[in-house]
Amino acid sequence: MAKREIVRFGEETLRRKCREVTEFDEKLWILLDDMYETMIESNGVGLAAPQVGILRRVVVIDVDDDNGKIELINPVITRMTGKQTDSEGCLSYPGKYGYVKRPNKVKVKALNRYGKPVEYTGTGLLARAFCHEIDHLNGILFSDKVIEWIEEEN
Ligand code: NI
Repeated sequence: MAKREIVRFGEETLRRKCREVTEFDEKLWILLDDMYETMIESNGVGLAAPQVGILRRVVVIDVDDDNGKIELINPVITRMTGKQTDSEGCLSYPGKYGYVKRPNKVKVKALNRYGKPVEYTGTGLLARAFCHEIDHLNGILFSDKVIEWIEEEN
């Protein structure tokens, strides 16, 4: 595994719509492993492939709950219920946090690294992570949705 460089806000790469994954091969597995390592070393809870410069529909999430590491290939949100407003950040925006409104419960269908269907239901932080990371695959950034920025402490 290798840590990859994270693309920062302002880069055009983060605004592109990502393409679906069609090959579930070693190249994908290396990407997933590298993304996970990059996310953990950066103290993040989620990372999307465009954040490491790869325009494919690939997401890794770990909110330190019973699910552990979650890998989502070609994810689709199939159900959203409730609302939550909480602080949110992004590894492409180091040190920046803002309040974002999200659904409180989200159901996601995706494929795993072997191309097999998987389904997850997340509430609270996990629901937030699903929405945030899937937005990345469509070129949408949390800054587009911030209701109020949180002042940085100096
Ligand atoms: Ni992000």
